[in-house]
Amino acid sequence: MICLGLESTCDESAAALVDDHGKILSSVVKSQVSSHARFGGVVPEVASRLHLAYLVPALREALLRAEVKLTDIDLIAVSHTPGLVGGLLVGTTLAKTLAWQLDKPWLGVDHLLGHMLAPGLETDMKYPCIGGVFSGGHCNIYLGKSALQWSLLARSRDDAPGESFDKIASLLELGYPGGPAIQKFSMSGDSKSYELPSPVPASLAGDFSFSGLKTAVLYLVKGQGSRKALCREKWPDLAASFQRRVAQSLAKHLCEYAMTHGVGHIYVGGGVAANSELRHEVQEQALKIGVNAVFPSIPLCMDNAAMIAWAGVQQYKETPQSFPLNIDVCARSTMGMEPR
Ligand code: KG4
Ligand code: ZN
Repeated sequence: MICLGLESTCDESAAALVDDHGKILSSVVKSQVSSHARFGGVVPEVASRLHLAYLVPALREALLRAEVKLTDIDLIAVSHTPGLVGGLLVGTTLAKTLAWQLDKPWLGVDHLLGHMLAPGLETDMKYPCIGGVFSGGHCNIYLGKSALQWSLLARSRDDAPGESFDKIASLLELGYPGGPAIQKFSMSGDSKSYELPSPVPASLAGDFSFSGLKTAVLYLVKGQGSRKALCREKWPDLAASFQRRVAQSLAKHLCEYAMTHGVGHIYVGGGVAANSELRHEVQEQALKIGVNAVFPSIPLCMDNAAMIAWAGVQQYKETPQSFPLNIDVCARSTMGMEPR
């Protein structure tokens, strides 16, 4: 079986072809970053228009690279939730049109399920597990019982970690996207310079909040009351301390959940999973408690369509039915929110 995956939830227009064993036949990602960078973040209307321009060329390129014809496709999977509605509509309309034209089944996939199952494109995922999606829009920790059964354990009540990286990068005049910029800038800083507040609650019961951490960084940079603004030479130390605090806190929480639920595997996905400090911290803390922690390779952490196709394959294996053509897109994910 060959599954076409389409991804257009945020600022990447992507198409990929994946077989039913999870082999990636081709994966094309057309990034819109350069168009949004001057605004310091993603502009939804610009993103929708660029998806219109980029998605079909991404599909053509994916077919060419895999040497596959449109008529060879057996299944079409598209991320139809969560994300920016304009982008979701572009991807979902393309998926429905292809399904109707080719008379093939189509499925809507939750983008977060795509991130959670991305490690499965490179390794056999084991269940039960703890899964973390840390991206520009989400900070969710799940208990995974099987590929399609996830329960939401924790989420952020305000920013996602990627969003905080982007905002702190903007404050430090590092440009957009902020995550890779902070990672690079931090290399010349001392991550032990500042003890910043943690974004995770003291107990596993509460929600995440990145406001205190962001405000602490803001006050240090701009000064507050009688305290003077930090000189620019200290900014790399501050960036490194911020990055370390996020990495340590998320790693601690993932490991605490793994211990509480008695599971032996942690999987992490989403753009922030590309962060080297987070990868190092999670591996180190997981090793101490005898838990296996797995991150996808960097391109599979970022938004891509291979993870959507792979999630689609697994959904279709479980329920081999096409979605009706009147299924709509949805800006918010409800994955794992069923009563536990
Ligand atoms: O998963 P993703 O590509 O898109 C969403 O679904 O949101 O994540 C994008 C986010 C951005 O906020 C970006 O700054 C962050 O991931 N990011 C990183 C790194 N690379 C990307 N954050 C920290 N360190 C990185 N190396
Ligand atoms: Zn994403």
